[in-house]
Amino acid sequence: MLEKMKVAVIGPGVMGEAILSCLVNSHICAPQNVTISGPEAERNQHLQDLYHVQITTDNGQAVANADFIVLAVKPQRFNQVARSIKGKLKPDAVVLSVIAGIKLESLAKALDHANIVRTMPNTPVRISKGITVWTTTESVTEAQKQSTIDLLTTLGEEVYVDDESYLDMATAVSGTGPAYVFLFMEAMIDAAVHLGFPRRIAEQLVSQTILGSVEFYRLSKDHPAKLRNEVTSPGGTSAEALYYLEKAGFRTAISRAILAAYERSQELGQGIQTKLDSSKE
Ligand SMILES: NC(=O)c1ccc[n+]([C@@H]2O[C@H](COP(=O)([O-])OP(=O)(O)OC[C@H]3O[C@@H](n4cnc5c(N)ncnc54)[C@H](OP(=O)(O)O)[C@@H]3O)[C@@H](O)[C@H]2O)c1
Repeated sequence: MLEKMKVAVIGPGVMGEAILSCLVNSHICAPQNVTISGPEAERNQHLQDLYHVQITTDNGQAVANADFIVLAVKPQRFNQVARSIKGKLKPDAVVLSVIAGIKLESLAKALDHANIVRTMPNTPVRISKGITVWTTTESVTEAQKQSTIDLLTTLGEEVYVDDESYLDMATAVSGTGPAYVFLFMEAMIDAAVHLGFPRRIAEQLVSQTILGSVEFYRLSKDHPAKLRNEVTSPGGTSAEALYYLEKAGFRTAISRAILAAYERSQELGQGIQTKLDSSKE
């Protein structure tokens, strides 16, 4: 279905380009059926040169004939964008938002539009290895849900949830998740360099260890604790290292960090832009 549809992407930033490139490179959409809209003509021209899509600086013009509209702007720009496209959407068009924190009800109200898909992707969508959690308003039809799956599958894996509250949870786990993984990688690489490895080798050792461990976990289908036990011989090196990680509160730190991200996601959804409450720390 998506092949025949006209798609508009509002917001030519990191997420907007990721979605644009996956749509075009997967050949699910013909470039002439895709329009990207953003305020900077130079940035739009750059994307047209790369992906041969239609470009405009006028959001209203971008959505006028679109069947699928992707909103990929920062939360603080949403109201401005809503004003620019409200009343210009086709009644049966689907608006898919990747904007963190803004709820279905707020999206529908600001756009005066019924068919809304709310998603939470993560940055590996840039190489079609992301994971996107999504939900919809009630009026979105089964056919439109299938088109949503077709679109999101070009970005990696997708998980549909029928309860919107999972979106804030997904923000804390998979949306923010790459930040935790990159920090962990950084710490391991720095430790390997500290031991004496050249940085290039340290980076190779760490990235392949993480990649291989994840693929091994997925193929074996065992619980991570079982796989960890297999590399933890009594009195050995893993046991020694794990003792120090647990002693330093590794598990609690991860758990607390994810809870903090979840709470922050809820705050942002309520329009609380700055974190004034330091009592939680
Ligand atoms: N990056 C992530 O890891 C991630 C993950 C999940 C969800 N998200 C969500 O994705 C959304 C976009 O994030 P991002 O990282 O892609 O941000 P970004 O790189 O800043 O992209 C936002 C784009 O929107 C453009 N823009 C600003 N005002 C506009 C308007 N009135 N009409 C059309 N375009 C406008 C910006 O142009 P200018 O730069 O010229 O202002 C920019 O190109 C956010 O809501 C975020 O919550 C991001």
